Amino acid sequence: MSGDRRGPLVVAHRGASAARPEHTLAAYELALEQGADGLECDVRLTRDGHLVCVHDRRVDRTSSGTGLVSEMTLQHLSSLDFGTDDDPAGLLTLAELITLVLDHRSRPTKLFIETKHPVRYGGLVESKVLAELARFGLSAPVSASHSRAVVMSFSATAVWRIRRAAPLLPTVLLGDASRYLGGGAATTVGATAVGPSIKSLREHPELVDRAAAAGRATYCWTVDEPADVQLCRDLGVGWIATNHPGRTKELLAR
Ligand code: G3P
Ligand code: CA
Repeated sequence: MSGDRRGPLVVAHRGASAARPEHTLAAYELALEQGADGLECDVRLTRDGHLVCVHDRRVDRTSSGTGLVSEMTLQHLSSLDFGTDDDPAGLLTLAELITLVLDHRSRPTKLFIETKHPVRYGGLVESKVLAELARFGLSAPVSASHSRAVVMSFSATAVWRIRRAAPLLPTVLLGDASRYLGGGAATTVGATAVGPSIKSLREHPELVDRAAAAGRATYCWTVDEPADVQLCRDLGVGWIATNHPGRTKELLAR
């Protein structure tokens, strides 16, 4: 999961979400066109047990509807508009996003799947994510670096569940840098990478070397400012998640 000499690999955060409505097919297709090395998505469970790509607990901010994702069926969610007046867009399921990634054969793009509210469902979100990855042949990669999927969470419990069920699948334990520097949940759950916010990495840049010394890569979010892209490059961050994948790829190509 590490980067290379040219600098961090670029993950499109919710797709190219500065330019297109987040988590929509248009946002992810644009990110792929712009050369993103990875796509990030948040997944939630619908009332009838489907995994859908939505960040918030409620659909109010990002769609024409109102209410909790967990109280809606896939059929109802699919009737909502997740785009804009000028640019209508439907809901994306995790399966549809995996299909997009696998169909994009010109680059081995990775999918970074973040589980939301894993504790409330007692492991159901993680087991459903693993079942979906298994259905596409992605749950048992030959190595972390060859994996087309990465599972992430702010919950150490969720990461631990994934590690236990799919030991070769790379994982990122998200959290502020201070979470790892005190001796570390990331170490205890065996996450492949630590996942600090850019704000916390500015305060604790030593994290990248400390993580590398422990054999862990660094995934940093959400890195939109050019100065922060440069900071991540200088520090040797492996992956950066950004709402501006095209601009970020251009900056890193200089
Ligand atoms: O990529 C990790 C980052 O997405 C975590 O924060 O709130 O955007 O899901 P959030
Ligand atoms: Ca996320």
